[in-house]
Amino acid sequence: MPKSALLLFSLLIVIHLSPSSAYNVVSFGARGDGRTDSTAAFLRAWKAACSSAKPASVSVPRGKYLLNSIWFVGPCRSRIVFEMSGTIVAPDNYNVIGNSEFWILFYKVSQLTVVGGTVDAKGHAFWSCRQRNGRCPGGARSITFQWCNNVVISGLTSLNSQTIHIAINHSNNIKIQNVKITAPSGSPNTDGIHIQSSRGITVTSSTIGTGDDCISIGPGSMNLWIEKIGCGPGHGISIGSLGNSANEEGVQNVTVTNSVFTKTQNGVRVKAWARPYGSYARNLVFRNLIMRNVGNPIIIDQKYCPDNSCPRESSGLRVSQVLYRNIKGTSSTQAAMTFVCSASKPCYGIKLQDIKLTYVNTLRRPTVAYCEHADGYTTGSVSPRSCL
Ligand SMILES: *[C@@H]1O[C@H](CO)[C@@H](O)[C@H](O)[C@H]1NC(C)=O
Ligand SMILES: *[C@@H]1O[C@H](CO)[C@@H](O)[C@H](O)[C@H]1NC(C)=O
Repeated sequence: MPKSALLLFSLLIVIHLSPSSAYNVVSFGARGDGRTDSTAAFLRAWKAACSSAKPASVSVPRGKYLLNSIWFVGPCRSRIVFEMSGTIVAPDNYNVIGNSEFWILFYKVSQLTVVGGTVDAKGHAFWSCRQRNGRCPGGARSITFQWCNNVVISGLTSLNSQTIHIAINHSNNIKIQNVKITAPSGSPNTDGIHIQSSRGITVTSSTIGTGDDCISIGPGSMNLWIEKIGCGPGHGISIGSLGNSANEEGVQNVTVTNSVFTKTQNGVRVKAWARPYGSYARNLVFRNLIMRNVGNPIIIDQKYCPDNSCPRESSGLRVSQVLYRNIKGTSSTQAAMTFVCSASKPCYGIKLQDIKLTYVNTLRRPTVAYCEHADGYTTGSVSPRSCL
């Protein structure tokens, strides 16, 4: 074999054996100048990676990349790593992404890892439009995973989303770890992570501070593990709102553990509409939690109806088997524990163990527990005194 042919032959072998192919968005025309629309370039890089016969990576190097609404659609031929060192920014005009429900959407993608990077939706102008009741678009979530399985999201930072920062919908086996989510405390509906119709989701070692729930768990969520979360500012970790429509799926097997809540409106909350639709929230575990100056550290509220559209209706949602264990710290209101359950579907199996929640007020009044239609028992030492 001539020397050049031999070289070509070995080169082909090397290419063939290399474990993965890398697709750098810059080589597909993206510009990290914060001004040039790089949407088409990102899509070309995605398409190349997604059709690769061997594991592929899309890499986003340092720089700021301006993206319009973008859909990364699967299924892909092999596993994909979306590797970000740079920042993705939204256009200054909030209508550009705000008129579609999604800014960055991963749709029907499995075996995906998203590592590092920052996404900045620059939501301020959109929120002020909403706050002055202007003519605003519906708003976009920053990153959504819809119909995705086996995804890892690691080391991502999400800033100032128009609405939800990270949404998981119809997806299974998703690991979210070491993420940082930030929006101002007054920003409307900027939930940190929203999970719905999904199973096997873990969220660990993450810091979330927003204007709404740090984590919200919607209907159809099962087998969730939430650990080592720093939550605040925001509305806490919420299961709900549930029971808003007929044929809604329930929520079961959710654990929230080893987490700290700082100056949040709620700590751990179960929230259901005062509407008659039958559904359930069961097998919930809240343990090893620290509350620092939290409005309602422990709360079940089945009379949720902010717009007063459900007068005299009672929630058809059954809440059962809820464990609260080793929850300590301070409450910014006297009502440290509230269990407002449904008259037609009382809560049962609520277990309180080793709770100590004191009132931050200098008057040093004791905290209290408040119950309606709630049944359960306590073990260990529980303060405020249980009303179950
Ligand atoms: C989840 O998907 C369903 C059906 O496609 C849709 O109606 C719903 O609005 C989605 N919710 C979220 C939070 O993405
Ligand atoms: C509950 O969820 C956890 C975490 O996802 C999972 O490991 C466990 O197997 C689930 N338990 C049941 C009974 O399904």
